[in-house]
Amino acid sequence: SAEDEARIAEIKRLLKAQNAVLVAHYYTDDAIQQLAEQTGGCVADSLEMARFGARHEAETLVVAGVRFMGETAKILSPEKRVLMPTLEATCSLDVGCAPDEFSAFCDAHPERTVVVYANTSAAVKARADWVVTSSIAVDVIEHLQARGEKILWAPDKHLGGYIQQKTGADMLMWDGACIVHEEFKARGVEDMKRLYPEAAVLVHPESPASVVALADVAGSTSQLIKAARALPHDTLVVATDRGIFFKMQQAVPEKTLFEAPTAGNGATCKSCAHCPWMAMNALDNLAGALREGRGEIHVGDALREKALAPLERMLNFNA
Ligand code: 13P
Ligand code: SF4
Repeated sequence: SAEDEARIAEIKRLLKAQNAVLVAHYYTDDAIQQLAEQTGGCVADSLEMARFGARHEAETLVVAGVRFMGETAKILSPEKRVLMPTLEATCSLDVGCAPDEFSAFCDAHPERTVVVYANTSAAVKARADWVVTSSIAVDVIEHLQARGEKILWAPDKHLGGYIQQKTGADMLMWDGACIVHEEFKARGVEDMKRLYPEAAVLVHPESPASVVALADVAGSTSQLIKAARALPHDTLVVATDRGIFFKMQQAVPEKTLFEAPTAGNGATCKSCAHCPWMAMNALDNLAGALREGRGEIHVGDALREKALAPLERMLNFNA
């Protein structure tokens, strides 16, 4: 619409005027991903977002995604101003892992190495030995297991179960889940496979084990986009937030992509498989953040220092 065009022009102008760069996650709206692409920013998974923000020389990072992504950017770049379209955009994994309870869980198991998923608050990261994103989680746990370490894992039980199954590591698990991925149903994916026997199935490992078991490839968002390109299949059934279709379809314009069913009846559901928090990022509040300096992320020095160590361990890790 004309209104969107005006917003887009305004955001481009403000980004330039404020020496700011836009970093967007694959699950945000197409218009936001497109803007990030067109303005020298990046569209990426959570690990690449962290790396990009930390390396970029901009004075301001505008992080379109969910809260933990903005916090991670600020922890890695305290000298930069970090803005988010809205500070309300959290994540069910973060909400389901309160720092006090998590801390008590760690205290009860002092012999375990604490590994937390990036989808957590700065306070939870501050209690951890390692932070990992889904694209690096298996490699890090494999490395720790080879050193004979026992793991305390939080918060995603599905991703944790997947890592445990891949590595055979001894993992004590927090009971958390992603409200979006937890809805994918094995029965629905089986129905899709019957309808499209030539299709490959791509699954984010935050999905239940029964769905991951049906996957040709399981992996982080960026790994799934790579797999879409690498696989010979012309038809792909994808179990992750539908925001990923913007970049995935760009990567494989000739292939047919289907959203994996969340209803268990084989029907694709257009309004499902979309993170309500990611959806809070819009052109309007993005423009507002830049125009008024709203949505700035702050992380106190003491907390920042504690959360930085496990994050740096992740960034310096080479599989
Ligand atoms: P990725 O690191 O795979 O992008 O995952 C982030 C996320 O929130 C998945 O739901
Ligand atoms: Fe969190 Fe799930 Fe949304 Fe990812 S999709 S940000 S894990 S609630």
